[in-house]
Amino acid sequence: MNTEALIKETEDDFRVHSRIYTDPEIFNLEMQKLFEEGWCYVAHESEVPNVGDFRTSAVGRIPVIVSRGDDGKVYVNVNACRHRGTVVCREERGNTRFFVCPYHGWSYKRDGTINNITDRDNFPDDWGKDIKGLIAADHITNYRGMIFASFNPDVESFDTHMGPLKKYVDFWFDHAVEGHVRVLKPWRALYQGNWKFQLENSTDGWHARYVHVSALKTLTEFGEYNSNVGWAGCTRGFAGGHGILERPRGDIPPELKSTFDMFQQELKSKYGDEYGEDMFVRRHITIFPNIQLMEFKLRIIQPVAVDQTIVYEFPVELVGTSSEVNESIRTRLFKEVSISSGSPVSGMVNADDVEIYARTQAGLSGGHMAWLRFGRGIHREKSERENEWSGQDMDELPQRCLYRKWLKAMS
Ligand code: FES
Ligand SMILES: [Fe+2]
Repeated sequence: MNTEALIKETEDDFRVHSRIYTDPEIFNLEMQKLFEEGWCYVAHESEVPNVGDFRTSAVGRIPVIVSRGDDGKVYVNVNACRHRGTVVCREERGNTRFFVCPYHGWSYKRDGTINNITDRDNFPDDWGKDIKGLIAADHITNYRGMIFASFNPDVESFDTHMGPLKKYVDFWFDHAVEGHVRVLKPWRALYQGNWKFQLENSTDGWHARYVHVSALKTLTEFGEYNSNVGWAGCTRGFAGGHGILERPRGDIPPELKSTFDMFQQELKSKYGDEYGEDMFVRRHITIFPNIQLMEFKLRIIQPVAVDQTIVYEFPVELVGTSSEVNESIRTRLFKEVSISSGSPVSGMVNADDVEIYARTQAGLSGGHMAWLRFGRGIHREKSERENEWSGQDMDELPQRCLYRKWLKAMS
């Protein structure tokens, strides 16, 4: 497939062909090249804290089990029985001694190695000696509690993949006094649109004043949003396809203001004034291709089909940070995120976005609308560091970096 022809970049324009949102063949290639052969987020370590804990997840199209073995290590194995391929573990999460296949009863240990092939007497003596266990991911890495897996023996190092994004990811996790977070129970939403719409949108600083106008008005009316804050900050894009939307935290509800000031003061005394200033910014960070670090929550994107996507949002607890601060964050998430964006049923902000994804998918059906444009701010992209670019807060810079990486990985 000639994927090269699907992205057109000139000095003053950037176009993406609509086929990449509608063609099932491209979707399959994306799952292979970007998810399975790249670095895909599968779970957070706090979801499997104890020996025997597991959760099921996916790497692109491949169903996987993330589990903690008897040796305390985390394993990522394909969730398919080595006999005839049945999904072995059907639960979303839990704790177990063995994974037992529901079809003919073969069982696997916590680390995925084979435990028992049933009715052994009915096979030749040496039969099945080559079956060591479930198929393991080629590479697993844990960065600040986030577990990533790859089914590519020759995948580039995780460090190379992250590049200069690491600094910002560290800012995000350093909000927790102990440097790591615990994820809480997620909510989950399914939308009728391509997975890349969610990826593009979380770092799109332009849409909010249009898409969310009624939500912002409502929040302003009830004192939950300070509309005088204005719009400031910046966007960042990275060679690895990652992106950032950066905004000052000027919209803290008045009753939480003193706690947030105390929170920043604590961080400044831990890290020093400069670091404490640089890190204490609201950042939406996309780690390409499927995880976004949002304001005190993780957003996980799980593509289902070319026009269907599941999004998970996990609120986080900052480990080691005072319960007052954590309580405030939760209050803020419930007020601003649950009422305004987090809850799939009563929310306003996320509901607006999801509606836009479905409408965009609808607009592209039939293939008559060929080219989508991502030109905002293309004439003022700056690069202060290798593999990192920045632009104004509403520029479509993170999206362009995303599609430059897309093109590179897909070609
Ligand atoms: S498919 Fe798993 S035991 Fe037969
Ligand atoms: Fe939005």
